[in-house]
Amino acid sequence: MNRLSSEYPKDPRWSEQRGGRNSPIVEATRSWMLMRDGTAHRRLRGLANPVFTAKAIREMAPRVTGIVHRIMDEMGSGHDIDLIGRLACQVPVTVFCGLGGLPVEDRDLCRKWTDALGHVIDPSVDETTRRAMNDAAAEFGDYIAEHLARRRANPQDDLLSRLLLAEFDGERLSDGEIIANVMMFFMGGHETTVNLIGNGMLGLLRHPDQLRALREDPGLIDDGIDELLRYDAPIQLVARIATEDIQVGDRTIPAGAKVMILLGAANRDPRRYTDPDRLDLRRPDVRPLSFGGGPHYCIGALLAKSEARLVFSELVRRYRDITLSHEDVVWRPQVNIRGLSELRVDLMS
Ligand code: HEM
Repeated sequence: MNRLSSEYPKDPRWSEQRGGRNSPIVEATRSWMLMRDGTAHRRLRGLANPVFTAKAIREMAPRVTGIVHRIMDEMGSGHDIDLIGRLACQVPVTVFCGLGGLPVEDRDLCRKWTDALGHVIDPSVDETTRRAMNDAAAEFGDYIAEHLARRRANPQDDLLSRLLLAEFDGERLSDGEIIANVMMFFMGGHETTVNLIGNGMLGLLRHPDQLRALREDPGLIDDGIDELLRYDAPIQLVARIATEDIQVGDRTIPAGAKVMILLGAANRDPRRYTDPDRLDLRRPDVRPLSFGGGPHYCIGALLAKSEARLVFSELVRRYRDITLSHEDVVWRPQVNIRGLSELRVDLMS
C-alpha cells in the first residue's frame, strides 16, 4: 500500500468544505486520476496515456504552431502589453479546445469554468468559491457530455474520440470518468502552462544576458525550458495524506497527517544545483521536480513544454526588443500555484 495517498475526496472534512460527497465537484474529483491511488489510478492513467505520448505531441506540433502564430498576430507590438492576458492565458486553452475536440469559439467559456474549478486544490475554500466551483463542475460536465455524445455518433481525430475508444487491460472508461478527466486536463493544463510562460518570461526579462543568449541561439530553449521550470515552478507544492506513521530523519509524520512536498524548494536545493538562484539556460543536467514525480508525474508535461518552447522561440523571433514596462509585478495570491496576474511589457518588432 502507498505510504502517501492522494485520495483527498475520501476525507470527509475535505469533501464537506467543497460541497459534500454528492456535490458536482467532489463527485468529479473521485474519478480524477490525480486523486486516486494504486490500481484505480493505474487504470485511469493507462487509459489516458496514449493521448499524451511523445509521438502524439509531435503530431500536434503544427496545429499548436498555427495557434501560437494566430494569437501573436492578434497581440501585435507596442507599449504596455499584458503578456499574461494577451498571450499566456490564450495559448493553453485554445490548444486544449482544439486537441479535445471542443469548439475553439467556446474557449472563454471553458477558461471561466476552468478558473473556478482550479480552486478545488486550495487549502481552504469559502462559500462563494464553493458555489462557483460546483456551478462550474455541473455546467462544464453537461457541456462535455453533449460533445461526447456527438463524438460517439461521429468519431474524429481528437481527445474525446480517443478516450471513448481507449482500452486498458480489457477495460474502457465510463462516460462519467471521461467527463471528469477532461475537466481535470483543462484544470491541470491551463493555469500551470500560463505560469510557465509568465514566470519564464519574467525570469528572462530579469536576466537580460539570458534573453540575449536565447535570441542569438533560439535552439537553447530545447533544454532551457527545463531551467525555466526549475527557476520558477508554476506549481510550488503538492500534498499527500500519510497512510501510516512515516519516519523522516528524527521526526515521525503521524498517520493521517497532511504532507506538503515543496517542489519549488527542491528545485533550488544548493546541494543539487550550483548557484541555484541564478537563471542559466546552459546549466547542465537540469531535472526539475516541477512536474512532480512517481506515479502521478504530470501526464501533460510534454504538451506543456512543447507549447512553451514554441511561445518563447516565436517571441524572440518576432520581437527585436522585449522589456518590462514596469519594474513592479503583481503575483496572484495563491500558495500552491505561483503565477503573475499580469506582466506588462514593451514589445518592439
Ligand atoms: C507547465 C505546465 C504544468 C505543470 C507545472 C504541471 C504540474 C503538475 C504536477 C506537479 C503534477 C503532480 C501532482 C501531484 O503529484 O499531486 C501534475 C499532474 C498532472 N497534470 Fe500537470 N502540469 C502542467 C501541465 C499539464 C497539462 C498541459 C496537462 C493536460 C493534460 C496536465 C494534466 C495533469 C494531470 C491529469 C495530472 C495528474 C496525473 C496523475 O495523477 O497521474 N498538466 N502536473
